[in-house]
Amino acid sequence: MDGITDAAFRSLVLDLGDAGGAVTEFLRLTTGAPGTRVLRRELGPPHPSIPVGLQVMAPGPEWVAETAARAGEAGASFLDLNFGCPVKRVFNRCAGSALLAHPDRLRAIVAAAVSGAAIPVTAKIRAGIEDDGRLEEVLDAAASGGAAAILLHARLRVDSYAAPARWERIARASAFLRARHPGVALVGNGGVERAADARRMREETGCDAVLLGRAAFSDPFLFREIRGGPPASLAEAAAFALRYLDAFLLPPGTVRAGTGKAKQFVRCYRAGGIFEGREGERARLLSEAGPAAIRAWFAARAAEAGPGAAPVAEEAPRA
Ligand SMILES: Cc1cc2nc3c(=O)[nH]c(=O)nc-3n(C[C@H](O)[C@H](O)[C@H](O)COP(=O)(O)O)c2cc1C
Repeated sequence: MDGITDAAFRSLVLDLGDAGGAVTEFLRLTTGAPGTRVLRRELGPPHPSIPVGLQVMAPGPEWVAETAARAGEAGASFLDLNFGCPVKRVFNRCAGSALLAHPDRLRAIVAAAVSGAAIPVTAKIRAGIEDDGRLEEVLDAAASGGAAAILLHARLRVDSYAAPARWERIARASAFLRARHPGVALVGNGGVERAADARRMREETGCDAVLLGRAAFSDPFLFREIRGGPPASLAEAAAFALRYLDAFLLPPGTVRAGTGKAKQFVRCYRAGGIFEGREGERARLLSEAGPAAIRAWFAARAAEAGPGAAPVAEEAPRA
């Protein structure tokens, strides 16, 4: 998720060992194909046994084939094309979800990626812009363009992220692909907040896999729970938080940028019930605390949880 699940975060989640894969934040193609160094940076530290896809967003097929080729060279396991972003400045440039109204162009973008890529190409779509009347047409465009999988966010562009995700659209997509494009996998997305939701989505829709958005950031241990494991303990949740904060708070000169990121994390994080009964403390961290105080708060939770929970920082971040 753009501005949220950065390379450091994704890498820590993949280190936990339960997520089946990950996708980068989107990279917009505006003036040409990015170099492999840029793509490698987007992908983050390699995780050879777990598929990590590079996501790009393009208004048309220009530079897509070359980017797809370079994505493979940079170590991406697959190239994902973003046809779901609802943001106005993206939409007005006819990229992201705007392409749902232009299935022929969408197909051409997918086909361009497939022509350049030595890796599979996937398409992330929404169910529509203002209604879902063209869902099958869009699925057909992505599939006939050569997508190996389609990731369907079951909301419309006009819903942004707020309205309930309507999973019957995923069931519809599943039935359509099974009948018309049986080799194309369907990944369901939208509104999975708890482990039981992920299981229910698979059962109710027949999708092949489930993609977590915001819940992955709120509770990275959810992947383990979905696989039938236990939820995060307080010790695990605190240790993860410290590893993540240290990934961007410790390097000198990054503290300023880190403040917003640390607060974003505090706002969303719920693993291990870490803020249960402590919402007042969360509010105080958000309104008053700098990064050092935020880190200290998680270190205190780790200490409460017992030895072994907290990785010790070499150097305290500046406030
Ligand atoms: C702030 C934010 C940024 C996002 N950025 C991306 C992105 O870069 N690429 C993408 O495919 N989806 C992006 N998404 C959408 C999510 O991947 C996902 O489709 C959406 O949040 C619905 O899933 P959820 O209900 O599990 O959160 C973003 C969502 C949010 C809230």
